[in-house]
Amino acid sequence: MGIKFILSAVLLYGTLWFQATAEPVEDKRALLDFINKVHHSRKLNWDEKTPVCNNWTGITCNSNNSRVIELRLPGVGLKGIIPSNTLRHLSELQILSLRSNGLSGPFPSDLLKLEKLIGIYLQDNDFRGLLPLDMSVWRNLSVLNLSTNSFNGTIPSSISNSTHLVALNLANNSLSGDIPNISIPSLQFLDLSNNNLTGVVPKSLLRFPSSSFSGNNISYENPLLPPAPSPSAVPKRQSSKFSESAILAIVIGTCVVAFVSIALLLIIANRKKTKDDMLSQKKQRPMKKMISENQDANNKLVFFEGCNLAFDLEDLLRASAEVLGKGTFGTTYRAALEDATIVAVKRMKEVIVGRRDFEQHMEAVGNIKHENVAPLRAYYYSKDEKLMVYDYYNQGSISALLHAKRGENQIPLDWEARLRIAIGAARGIAHIHSQNGGKLVHGNIKASNIFLNSQQYGCVSDLGLATLMNPTTRAIGYRAPEVTDTRKVSQASDVYSFGVVLLELLTGKNPVKSSTGEEAVHLVRWVHSVVREEWTGEVFDVELLRYPNIEEEMVAMLQIGMSCVVRVAGQRPKMDDVVKMLENIRTAGNSQSGGTKSPGSTPTLTPNVAEVGSSSVHT
Ligand SMILES: *[C@@H]1O[C@H](CO)[C@@H](O)[C@H](O)[C@H]1NC(C)=O
Ligand SMILES: *[C@@H]1O[C@H](CO)[C@@H](O)[C@H](O)[C@H]1NC(C)=O
Ligand SMILES: *[C@@H]1O[C@H](CO)[C@@H](O)[C@H](O)[C@H]1NC(C)=O
Ligand SMILES: *[C@@H]1O[C@H](CO)[C@@H](O)[C@H](O)[C@H]1NC(C)=O
Ligand SMILES: *[C@@H]1O[C@H](CO)[C@@H](O)[C@H](O)[C@H]1NC(C)=O
Ligand SMILES: *[C@@H]1O[C@H](CO)[C@@H](O)[C@H](O)[C@H]1NC(C)=O
Ligand SMILES: *[C@@H]1O[C@H](CO)[C@@H](O)[C@H](O)[C@H]1NC(C)=O
Ligand SMILES: *[C@@H]1O[C@H](CO)[C@@H](O)[C@H](O)[C@H]1NC(C)=O
Ligand SMILES: *[C@@H]1O[C@H](CO)[C@@H](O)[C@H](O)[C@H]1NC(C)=O
Ligand SMILES: *[C@@H]1O[C@H](CO)[C@@H](O)[C@H](O)[C@H]1NC(C)=O
Repeated sequence: MGIKFILSAVLLYGTLWFQATAEPVEDKRALLDFINKVHHSRKLNWDEKTPVCNNWTGITCNSNNSRVIELRLPGVGLKGIIPSNTLRHLSELQILSLRSNGLSGPFPSDLLKLEKLIGIYLQDNDFRGLLPLDMSVWRNLSVLNLSTNSFNGTIPSSISNSTHLVALNLANNSLSGDIPNISIPSLQFLDLSNNNLTGVVPKSLLRFPSSSFSGNNISYENPLLPPAPSPSAVPKRQSSKFSESAILAIVIGTCVVAFVSIALLLIIANRKKTKDDMLSQKKQRPMKKMISENQDANNKLVFFEGCNLAFDLEDLLRASAEVLGKGTFGTTYRAALEDATIVAVKRMKEVIVGRRDFEQHMEAVGNIKHENVAPLRAYYYSKDEKLMVYDYYNQGSISALLHAKRGENQIPLDWEARLRIAIGAARGIAHIHSQNGGKLVHGNIKASNIFLNSQQYGCVSDLGLATLMNPTTRAIGYRAPEVTDTRKVSQASDVYSFGVVLLELLTGKNPVKSSTGEEAVHLVRWVHSVVREEWTGEVFDVELLRYPNIEEEMVAMLQIGMSCVVRVAGQRPKMDDVVKMLENIRTAGNSQSGGTKSPGSTPTLTPNVAEVGSSSVHT
């Protein structure tokens, strides 16, 4: 049987891949110590004799297998107190998830020794007592989820020292006292609901919706009465700067979350008004003011040659906007201009380069013309705002198409569509890799950055932003292991990310559940585990199983996907080769569709297995 053969080849490749490993001996000892001392009702395969990095459930190591960097044991029936002096030895740990267990006792003090933590997920347990007073050790922490426990006492203000925090969830505890002044600009998600908190919501947190604070005994200071001077009293330069960002925020962001802060800004800039007044006027009046004050030639929308869009910043600011999504690098809006043109506007956060570098980069990106690369139409740079204008794809991203709620009007993507998406996106990425003397890197490939072009082929958007941005903001689900360590993206890490997209197309599973820091399915590990254990057919999206005679094509794509997500960057194929392999799927399938095949009749697949396998042997 062809499939069996291919699968055993995949297995062989897997085995070879797993042999090229070292061991983090001390981390292993700490983990064994932990698991031996904690009660757990589900048996884990943490066997002293097997390699911790590749065979142990819930463990991820760094790229050279020298340290454990992730420990995820959600819902495995852990009970009781976390034994002390165990986890603290995992000093390189970045992600700890022990959510949905029956863990109890005080906040595990071992975690206060783990300075590298980026994500802490302890929700849905029975931890009690006070939160640690000094959390400043976690300087790089992005997600802290302690919801649905029994923590009491106050929220420590030292949380403000975790300046990279993106999501903080302390809901469903018994926390009391005032909400501290948590002024962390990167914070995007906050849930303090269902506690016993009192006092007023600090100004720094007014940008969050009231649901973030519900189920407490707190009040809002009247946001319509800010203790700020009227515009005439403010020095001119400052006021124009202020109104510019206020207005950009207004026009581009109409989401509910932003509204409170927008209202605040508007009032500061325009004296007191009633809320209703503002609602009706927010689109026009302040804008004129801004335009008259910003004749500065530097702050204009810059269009690229050959772009037939005709609007200016003024039109754009007047457009009605809606949030399409919040991504790693900022928020994207759908902006409908008065002349009915619709564009997608990306508002970038945390740009770390100056104007010159930014403009040079935009020029490089804007001059890429390829049917599988979403064209950048225009950009805008000012001190406070960096915008990019793209075509708007009304079908939404591949991520939306794959993961939208099934049923109702949503038709699942069929196999043909997925193949076209894969081939198109691969061609786009290969083209990007050929630019800039063959050095250009996309840096943020994921399903939500891939759209359908007019021929319904995949089309890649959002390229090259990685070099402009703060590297700590990078998406986890598609990130190559070496990027976790070095924070540097490369063409090989693009290949890895694209491999995850292939696995996503095949499995229908989402490697990033939400942008708000929710835990991601580790798609690569999951696929490996399914393929490694035995063939269950479980790996493929059930939606695909209804199409006849596509198993071989799916297996071929699976194999390409797996070769892209090989751990060692140097062993991944080049994007050009990935394109060829994907294009071969169909030619191979077409010529022999239907009948059962012997191993020898799948010539285009066999060499790839050999190639991957043999290159693994060298390490
Ligand atoms: C890892 O686990 C797989 C099956 O789960 C097993 O076949 C393999 O022998 C294990 N590797 C080692 C080195 O024990
Ligand atoms: C493994 O990689 C890390 C960086 O990720 C490096 O600090 C360490 O020295 C490497 N260890 C070995 C044994 O190569
Ligand atoms: C935090 O992240 C930065 C950037 O990657 C890194 O250089 C630094 O070592 C990290 N700090 C800690 C305490 O892990
Ligand atoms: C927190 O709860 C514990 C019992 O679990 C209690 O002894 C302690 O007094 C409480 N502390 C506060 C500040 O409510
Ligand atoms: C932040 O950490 C520093 C020292 O690490 C400490 O002095 C300061 O009090 C902390 N800030 C807060 C708000 O706790
Ligand atoms: C808090 O508990 C409520 C009710 O049990 C539940 O609906 C909600 O999802 C919980 N919130 C979180 C963040 O766990
Ligand atoms: C909140 O505080 C009140 C009074 O101090 C107490 O009776 C109640 O149990 C507390 N609620 C929670 C969820 O801790
Ligand atoms: C909140 O913290 C920020 C930054 O530390 C500070 O600028 C601001 O004045 C504080 N606000 C209050 C009300 O303490
Ligand atoms: C809410 O807080 C106020 C004062 O902060 C207090 O007078 C009132 O009794 C509290 N309400 C509840 C239900 O605890
Ligand atoms: C935290 O845990 C709750 C409850 O499981 C979940 O609803 C939420 O999405 C998690 N993540 C964040 C960032 O709050």
